[in-house]
Amino acid sequence: MNLLQDLKWRYATKKFDASKGIQEDDLQKLKEAVQLSVSSYGLQLYKVLIIQNKELKSQLRKAAWNQAQLTDASHIFVFCNYTERKNEHIDKYIEATSKIQDTPLEKLAGYGDLIKESLSAKSDAAWQNWSEKQTYLALSNLLTACAALKIDSCPMEGFEQEKFNTILGLDQKGLNAAVIAPVGYRSAEDHTQFRKKVRKPKEFLFEEIQ
Ligand SMILES: Cc1cc2nc3c(=O)[nH]c(=O)nc-3n(C[C@H](O)[C@H](O)[C@H](O)COP(=O)(O)O)c2cc1C
Repeated sequence: MNLLQDLKWRYATKKFDASKGIQEDDLQKLKEAVQLSVSSYGLQLYKVLIIQNKELKSQLRKAAWNQAQLTDASHIFVFCNYTERKNEHIDKYIEATSKIQDTPLEKLAGYGDLIKESLSAKSDAAWQNWSEKQTYLALSNLLTACAALKIDSCPMEGFEQEKFNTILGLDQKGLNAAVIAPVGYRSAEDHTQFRKKVRKPKEFLFEEIQ
């Protein structure tokens, strides 16, 4: 399976080659991979910013413990979850399902109500946690798609969310920067690419129950 080779090839890139940029057709493929991500109920309650602007990258680097990936990578994907639950998100999803799957709205209304009920039953903290979790599924698709295209990436939580939210004007949009991923091409000088992967042995990681 090529996928396993790709997953062994990828690593959390510490030093990108700032002279190399991602081609537009590859960027489109990455976007499609993110778009195809699974999400609870299929709601995709997040937005993904893709930042190429140099000045903005420099500002973000300062809010990310000065990690060099922020300025050297070709593009920064910022996965932003919605901070408020809104019925309109669910209504839009139900409308889209009705249209795309050619199903009458009346048939889907009960499902929409069920989602609304289930989401409104969550505490604010549980909602925030749940909606941030959704973004990680999209992040995972991005990392895997990058590996398949031999594009390097680095998943990152090492940044100040509030500062990112301010710099990117996310508060006004009801969004929150949950997790980010600079993507681009590894620098030959990045020694971490030569490190062996540290992963739990399968016998500790898995327990098969038959
Ligand atoms: C959610 C998440 C947040 C991470 N945050 C950072 C980060 O801020 N900076 C960084 O250099 N690496 C970060 N990493 C990379 C991990 O340290 C790395 O994936 C892990 O050590 C496994 O190594 P590998 O990805 O090279 O196989 C993060 C990884 C994940 C999944």
